Amino acid sequence: MVRETRLCPSNLVLPLFVCPGEQVRKEIAAMPGNYNFSIDQIIEECRAVKAAGIPAILLFGLPPAKDELGSGAYDDDGIVQRAVRAIKTAVSGVLVIADVCLCEYTSHGHCGQLRGEEVDNDATLLLLSKTAISYARAGADIIAPSDMMDGRVGTIRRTLDENHFESTPILSYAAKYASAFYGPFREAADSAPKFGDRKSYQMDPANQREAIREVALDIEEGADMVMVKPAMPYLDVIYRVKTEFDYPVAAYQVSGEYAALVAAQRNGWLEKDRTILESLTCIKRAGADIIVTYFAKEAARLLS
Ligand code: PBG
Repeated sequence: MVRETRLCPSNLVLPLFVCPGEQVRKEIAAMPGNYNFSIDQIIEECRAVKAAGIPAILLFGLPPAKDELGSGAYDDDGIVQRAVRAIKTAVSGVLVIADVCLCEYTSHGHCGQLRGEEVDNDATLLLLSKTAISYARAGADIIAPSDMMDGRVGTIRRTLDENHFESTPILSYAAKYASAFYGPFREAADSAPKFGDRKSYQMDPANQREAIREVALDIEEGADMVMVKPAMPYLDVIYRVKTEFDYPVAAYQVSGEYAALVAAQRNGWLEKDRTILESLTCIKRAGADIIVTYFAKEAARLLS
């Protein structure tokens, strides 16, 4: 009766990875219970998401080929575009949030166009807005730029507006840290950088005030919702973003957070159900309205 924080399936978003082929359902080694799905299979998964009362998926693509400029991301016939069209046709009532980033599509694995060994921030903006508009045309409900280039929210917002997608919201990965907890994802999405790291565009884990500046800029540029990522090591950041801006806040319990919990659960070192619900409830208590988590289906089952 006096509980202050209540977690519901409607707070959750399940990340999904779509890959080429048919009848593919390939488990991701470091993320047990998560798969690379071909389009026919991801449709089935979206039906299960809907049945669980989860309102949205966050979609990532594994393209059949990669190149220097990540052209698979903004190909109108690309893997995400085809998956979005198929999901929106086959399943009603599940929001498709399209993650916009180039790292899954570039041969070098960086999140943008390179100039020498550096990511060229401003050149990348054009490719990101092409990607966003292509996803919106395919039917994506929400555009979620995760690349962390400066100025991308404003550029994407303008491009969406000019193309009559004024009402397509932007969920910006506003405070995204250069985190070691992304390891398993990079295996799942085959997106590890071939050289160097992402520290020129992602944030230093030691910085909290910088997150506030990043969020302020994204809101000024037109973000409708802002994300903090990862989640559990960054609860203070979630709390500050929620209290200072009072915008819808999403938190991403990332692949490494998931993998660490699952590994301990599987060893019998941690209680599975309790650690899932406690981790998610505490992320919500810190101020997250929306939690992106690989535990979404499991948590929804526990909550129902
Ligand atoms: C792409 C992107 C990453 C994640 C989401 N979008 C990885 C990265 O920056 O390398 C990580 C998600 C996770 O670890 O679950 N830029």
